[in-house]
Amino acid sequence: MSIQHHEVEPALSAAPAGSGQAVPVSAETAPFPQRWPLGTTNLRYGGDYNPEQWTRETWIEDIELMKHAGINLVSIGIFSWALLEPREGEYDFSFLDDIMGLLADAHIDVDLGTPTASPPAWFFAKYPESRPVTRDGLPLGFGSRGMASPSSPEYRRAVAAIAGQLAARYAKHPALVMWHVHNEYGAPVSECYSEHSVVAFRQWLQVRYGSLDALNTGWGTTFWGQRYGEWSEVDAPRTSASVTNQTQRLDFKRFSSDALLACYTTERDVLRRFTPHLPVTTNFMVTNCPSVDYWKWAKEVDVVANDHYLKAERRDNHILLSMDADLSRSLARSEPWILMEHSTSAVNWQPRNIAKRAGQMARNSLAHLARGADGIMFFQFRASRYGAEKFHSAMLPHAGQESRVWREVVELGRDLGSLLAVRGSRVHARVAILWDVESFWAQDLEWHPSADLDHRERIEAFYTVLWRRGVTIDFAHPHDDLSAYDLVLAPSLYLIDQAGADSIRSYVKGGGRLLVSYFSGIVDENDAVHDGPYPGAIADVLGIRIEEFLPFYAHQVATLDDGSTATVWADDLALVTADAVVSFVDGPASGIPAITRNAFGEGSAWYVATRLDPAGLDSLIDAVLRDAGIISTPLPDGLEVVTRSHTNTSFTFYINHSASDAEVDSTGTELITGTRHTGTVVVPAATVRVVENASA
Ligand code: GLA
Repeated sequence: MSIQHHEVEPALSAAPAGSGQAVPVSAETAPFPQRWPLGTTNLRYGGDYNPEQWTRETWIEDIELMKHAGINLVSIGIFSWALLEPREGEYDFSFLDDIMGLLADAHIDVDLGTPTASPPAWFFAKYPESRPVTRDGLPLGFGSRGMASPSSPEYRRAVAAIAGQLAARYAKHPALVMWHVHNEYGAPVSECYSEHSVVAFRQWLQVRYGSLDALNTGWGTTFWGQRYGEWSEVDAPRTSASVTNQTQRLDFKRFSSDALLACYTTERDVLRRFTPHLPVTTNFMVTNCPSVDYWKWAKEVDVVANDHYLKAERRDNHILLSMDADLSRSLARSEPWILMEHSTSAVNWQPRNIAKRAGQMARNSLAHLARGADGIMFFQFRASRYGAEKFHSAMLPHAGQESRVWREVVELGRDLGSLLAVRGSRVHARVAILWDVESFWAQDLEWHPSADLDHRERIEAFYTVLWRRGVTIDFAHPHDDLSAYDLVLAPSLYLIDQAGADSIRSYVKGGGRLLVSYFSGIVDENDAVHDGPYPGAIADVLGIRIEEFLPFYAHQVATLDDGSTATVWADDLALVTADAVVSFVDGPASGIPAITRNAFGEGSAWYVATRLDPAGLDSLIDAVLRDAGIISTPLPDGLEVVTRSHTNTSFTFYINHSASDAEVDSTGTELITGTRHTGTVVVPAATVRVVENASA
């Protein structure tokens, strides 16, 4: 084993593998980083690859198979820290040099991981106080993977060092096209309660509040006698006797997301010093990471990359997939993004790991493509024989090439080749759903009016109605300029701060259409109830005042005067300037409006005070869409329709998730079969058709 000794801090010039020359890199003359992996003009196709688990003979075979499948990008090195730096400051890049060289020779590009999601055993042995600590005070042991304490100075120093060594060594390597920093920040550890974290939390609070008085006011510490007299008294919100100060908890969530983000930017900035021409990213889990504020993070990556795994047992998991893809595109602000990981078939970590059946992998992949992804990647290329993920599917399964999965992987590679024209085209949405993780964090704290309040359930329900109608959705932050949308939906937005309220108000005033659902606009950024009747943030926009919440008993069902039914919630609501559209005929709000509409400025704002049954929600959303000038009809069951377009060309994806063929009205060239169609296209059961129409 060849061990090289280096300084822990990287130098600013470096020897690339094999060249023997120093590479001076000057930040001043550096071009702005690319926003897409350099190199091939194809759609990106590939996956995570863990060569360290295999012999060199297997690498050679793998590379041949990758070429056969049309793979042009692999993410490597993600969990290689212990191999690359076997002792602190001692590096051994021999395996990486070798595999990078082989990949370069095969013209397969590398998305090089920094291995910092899995610090080596020596790191925790030497810096035990860098272990993450749970809310209950338990320091986590070694022997798995996951984060160190994000606020540990030793961890920050160590990640900068290894990132610098990698960047210095491979800066000019012909295979390297992008950096993959860490792996899924926030999983499995997001909040860390170590002493390092407490110190960093206090510093973060000093910046946010400026003074202890402001913190005491913001946190409402006069309640339950929690007032602080010294900064040193302020702690992380550890498990306590009863409900912990909710603003303290909300701030700790903000801080934790920022602490992880600082780990990312530390590495990114080191990488940029050596490779200012290369994009840097990290893999998000956009709807599945409860601990990271991706709106903030998306500004710090050069390319949005997302990992998505089906909720295997949900029969509507293809709809949830679309939601994930739409949120990824929205975070990317409609720039192309990469699906960094998904699975060819079953995963290994759900209660029942249901395998994908014929065609499902392609439908999943092309649904991401349809919604703006220009790269389709998997976890992982070759299935592991050992370790915690040995039962996870892969592009090349344990069964090898004589398998349905491998044949479908090769077929997908070919189909992506036929879809090259789609690359760089954009998805345009007229409707946006407001998505703010700070609101979700606040709503998920304890002691709220009903255990049945569930923001995720409401967003999925609204999204599903629109998906079934073929209406494409963007997600937006409440602070965004919303004026480009014809309709904005807030299915559940408990926390709306002043900036959010102003943005929503000016959107409607300027002619926008808005639909807000119950328990929205209740608190400000400190989780304090807005002054006056609910929903204080936007009561004027909605033209209503709510005197009291009227949560239902478990399983209670009320009837509305349009014949639909309602569960979970009602408000004791009075009309101020709004009109009643539908009212309760029984239940706790009998005779009180359940749906209202308020003309406000040039626009209108609708409010729904209850959880409507699916047909009721569909007819409400249909009415609101019409109000916004959007005419839609429900599509045949299981048919997904999305359009991407260039200036003069559109690509309509028809994804048939059902077991029967569908016939759609469409004219143009179907790209997967290469057939010209006039008038109608048959989309066979369980398959995808993509029609290019050059006159759009
Ligand atoms: C995540 C991780 C991968 C792998 C997959 C398995 O997305 O990033 O390393 O563990 O899950 O589904």
